[in-house]
Amino acid sequence: MAESAPGRDSPKPPEATGAHPVVLITGGARRIGAAITRDLHAAGLDVVVHCRRSLAEATALTDELNARRPDSARPLQADLLDPQALESLAAQAREFRGRLDGLINNASTFYPTPVGEITMAHWDDLMGSNVRAPLFLTQACAPALRASGGGVVNIVDIHALRPLSGYPVYSAAKAGLWALTQSLARELGPEVRVNGVAPGAILSPEDPANFGTHEAMVERTALKRAGDPADIARTVRFLLLEAPYITGQVIPVDGGRSASQ
Ligand SMILES: NC(=O)c1ccc[n+]([C@@H]2O[C@H](COP(=O)([O-])OP(=O)(O)OC[C@H]3O[C@@H](n4cnc5c(N)ncnc54)[C@H](OP(=O)(O)O)[C@@H]3O)[C@@H](O)[C@H]2O)c1
Repeated sequence: MAESAPGRDSPKPPEATGAHPVVLITGGARRIGAAITRDLHAAGLDVVVHCRRSLAEATALTDELNARRPDSARPLQADLLDPQALESLAAQAREFRGRLDGLINNASTFYPTPVGEITMAHWDDLMGSNVRAPLFLTQACAPALRASGGGVVNIVDIHALRPLSGYPVYSAAKAGLWALTQSLARELGPEVRVNGVAPGAILSPEDPANFGTHEAMVERTALKRAGDPADIARTVRFLLLEAPYITGQVIPVDGGRSASQ
């Protein structure tokens, strides 16, 4: 918040400040992104719900949230592979309320890229959505986040540290995002904290190319079950709102999968 000492405070819920902090959630219309959107809105934040193809879902979600609290949610459509769209998305998110307190880099593409079949288009798409867009969107949002003393939470993946077999480009992209989380925490401090959440097996992928990965990972968790999008959402909320002395960290939320071979 502008009135706070840089880096000392996280965005405060409205009862503490009289104003609603604003957060931009990429890919926030569906699945894990929608759980994050709902959770942060319920915590009192106003939400900018980014989408690419899922405009109908984004509009339905923001209509629902606006019915609960008028003018508290806005959908914005942008292809994160388009560098100009990133600038425009950051500007429009700021314009919604004249402030920006949080950025959740959640949007992602995920599919196998067996060696021998990898194309430059795969590289550009997987690197573009998972690491390039989070970098340039964070850069575009940084002035507003610095002004508010806000925070960034990147949605990474436990396969950043333990590559998923058959997914070398995706795994490398998430490894880049993990490193970027640490690096940007240094670059944007003391005003802005940058953290990450690394999900394990939460939701089954929708693309048939990925079928089997989820079930195999659930089997290898300590808790012997998949997680819930709410598990990711509450960890994002903790890092954004309740962790003023945590920055540069990535928290695995994986039912103990990464604690074993
Ligand atoms: N599902 C899991 O169990 C799991 C496990 C580990 C890590 N994760 C991570 O958690 C996050 C959420 O997972 P998820 O399964 O809910 O994600 P998802 O459904 O695979 O994708 C989330 C959204 O990303 C958006 N997106 C993809 N490419 C984009 C682009 N070029 N421009 C703009 N938006 C783009 C899509 O938005 P539109 O629909 O609007 O096009 C999509 O709905 C991701 O970062 C993922 O890597 C998930």
